Amino acid sequence: MSRDKPRRPDAARVADAGPSFAGALIEWHALGGRHDLPWQRDRSPYRVWVSEIMLQQTRVGTVIPYYERFMRRFPDIVALAGAPLDEVLHLWSGLGYYARARNLHRAAVCVREEHGGRFPESFEALARLPGVGRSTAGAVLALSRGQRLPILDGNVRRVLTRQFGVEGGASDRTAMQRLWQISEECTPTRHVDVYTQAIMDLGATICTRRNPACGQCPVAERCVARLTGRQHELPAARRRPERPLRQVFMVAAQRHDGGVLLERRPESGIWGGLWCLPQFDTRAEAEAYLRHALNGAAPRPLEALRHAFTHFDLVITPLLAHCSATSAPDPARHAWYRASAPDALGLPAPISKFLRRLATDAVQEQLLD
Ligand code: ADE
Repeated sequence: MSRDKPRRPDAARVADAGPSFAGALIEWHALGGRHDLPWQRDRSPYRVWVSEIMLQQTRVGTVIPYYERFMRRFPDIVALAGAPLDEVLHLWSGLGYYARARNLHRAAVCVREEHGGRFPESFEALARLPGVGRSTAGAVLALSRGQRLPILDGNVRRVLTRQFGVEGGASDRTAMQRLWQISEECTPTRHVDVYTQAIMDLGATICTRRNPACGQCPVAERCVARLTGRQHELPAARRRPERPLRQVFMVAAQRHDGGVLLERRPESGIWGGLWCLPQFDTRAEAEAYLRHALNGAAPRPLEALRHAFTHFDLVITPLLAHCSATSAPDPARHAWYRASAPDALGLPAPISKFLRRLATDAVQEQLLD
């Protein structure tokens, strides 16, 4: 007896739920979505691109002041391409994930050199720019030009996974292919910009990872996760390995005028391209550097700083010392930084905070007592 192959339930659902899924989201967006974000005004592909890069791994509320400052300084791609990387990193300081800023700058230079300074409006050209993947390219063109392109950032993945009951996490290739296909099928032919913003907003404000507000969701009544009570199981949580702790020492060498020696970090690795206190794995190495390279006095350890990276926690012990060196060991990589008259350099947030504290009496007293 021949039996029909069972149809995948989610594939069947997309086919009939597709248009009305989009319709429900578009309708919901009028009252429930976000309308007053700075990148929603004057929606050029350039402005939307910058916002999408800033919004990767960062919340809207954090991004807004950075975005406004960035746009005042770099109103178009040619201004961004013409700026020194240091200035871009300076405006990015505190936003984290600095590879995004380096890629943004590289992409701007590429647009100036290869596209005559005109921001590309084809998906293929856009997706070739550094730091722009399939989802970001789709979001930029859908939001700014209404092109019918699917997106699949983290929030959208969560919404579609729950709505259509897709098993398998982000590292499951088959699951991701199915989600891309579902995203493609759900994307409407009209009002793509509103739909795209709506599904992102739904993921960020209603269909949240913990405690989703299903009572306020416009597509709850057909959501597989909700109907089967599996909101908290879908999408499957990634098993995170234990976060290792990394301990380093940083030299805070201070000149008579208060200037503190900073060193530009290599382009790759953590805080790539940012300016930081010289870093060492051991206290002995840090002390030897102070003595030999900076003619510094014996240092005093200050309270440790702790910073969480995605894959590990960094514990920094700053070693504060006065030094009589006036020139920098390597002028191409070093600078004397004064908090009272700071240069426009990209500084990691904890280092910037430390330097501001260093300029106050509180830390100086620790040095003197
Ligand atoms: N996250 C990613 N893109 C976004 C956007 N355009 N609006 C709000 N949150 C977002």
